[in-house]
Amino acid sequence: MASSHIPTLIVRKREGEALTDGQIRDLVHGFTRGEVSDAQMSAFAMAVYFRGMTAAETASLTHAMLESGERFHFSGDHPPVVDKHSTGGIGDKVSLILAPLVACCGCWIPMVSGRGLGITGGTLDKLESIPGFRVGLSIEMAQRQLQRLGVAMMGQTEQFCPADKKLYALRDVTGTVPSIPLITASIMSKKLAESLDRLVLDVKFGSGAFMKNREQAELLAAAMQAVGGQLGVQVFTQINEMSQPLGQAVGNALEVAESLAAMRGEGPPDLLELVVTQTELITGTCREKLMSMLASGEVWEKFARMVDEQGGDARCLEHYDAVHVAPVVKDVLVDGSGTVSAFDAGMIGQAALELGAGRGSVMDAIDPRVGFSALVKIGEPLKTGDRIARVHAADESAALRAELSLRAALTIG
Ligand code: URA
Repeated sequence: MASSHIPTLIVRKREGEALTDGQIRDLVHGFTRGEVSDAQMSAFAMAVYFRGMTAAETASLTHAMLESGERFHFSGDHPPVVDKHSTGGIGDKVSLILAPLVACCGCWIPMVSGRGLGITGGTLDKLESIPGFRVGLSIEMAQRQLQRLGVAMMGQTEQFCPADKKLYALRDVTGTVPSIPLITASIMSKKLAESLDRLVLDVKFGSGAFMKNREQAELLAAAMQAVGGQLGVQVFTQINEMSQPLGQAVGNALEVAESLAAMRGEGPPDLLELVVTQTELITGTCREKLMSMLASGEVWEKFARMVDEQGGDARCLEHYDAVHVAPVVKDVLVDGSGTVSAFDAGMIGQAALELGAGRGSVMDAIDPRVGFSALVKIGEPLKTGDRIARVHAADESAALRAELSLRAALTIG
């Protein structure tokens, strides 16, 4: 039983006081064991959202979440262990391509990701659109898979970062995602439990990200860098604007299909650019070599082997577009002409969520079929009748609402 009186800790945080390391541990460990209720933890998260945390409190929260479960242990001679994490964006599928690419470079990547959060998509939800794919690996299974393949992609479990697993799900549905200390502790507890040598953090800002401007993104990057440095991980941070969706697809199965093309070097340039830059940072392999690995098909093969190892149907990857077909698939055409001057990623994320690509409550199932594909990009010239996107929806009325949001998100000048 936690020794701190939990309602008092919530009140203290609500009033803007700093909590001690011991109090934060009591709260997190009590929550992990089920002694602190979801209601109390949600209230605490909201208090942190409004009041923030000091650097010392953020470090304590990260450590307490890290200690809530077990960690990877790598003994003997082994390749460098590396990873990447994004703070979340719209159409951000970099991890799906980067993980097998890193393994092809000879590093190990035990990637622990999350589900969709708020309007942003999650790597686990995308992977689970592959029939049979299991994200619930034990640490032992993941370690054996690293020996064989160099890559494992998994979620938080009861064994690995259980505090983040529970808190992440609560934050998603209680309006408490965009908080620098909560994002820092969530990401860094998972990444530090992987016992990494090197980590690249893709910190997003803009309408489709939790940090709305560059200054906030810089604060978040600094907070994560500080916590990583304390535990001896070499952390690289990249700050990237999320002012339009990344690539041309948003939605779980649609993003897997786009990623499969990118694994063969055929993806949209903005997506490939992030994949290659971030992989270069953590593996030291040059861009030319990375591009030739993608074009050769070996990255696609590595991904297919990982899918097979994790129980997924690797044969369906060859024709992934046909695996999840939404009942309504509709091209949205432009009326008028001009050049795309702005494209609000946040509105597209919200529209994808409303189509069913994200969750409204902890227990909600997501619909892997829905979302947008063939999205236009900023700078593209358009004339009447050109397609601005294809909407994938569960029914006609959902498709119509998504079309209206899409048109509202786009500025054609
Ligand atoms: N990704 C995470 O893993 N956690 C967050 O809080 C935000 C993005």
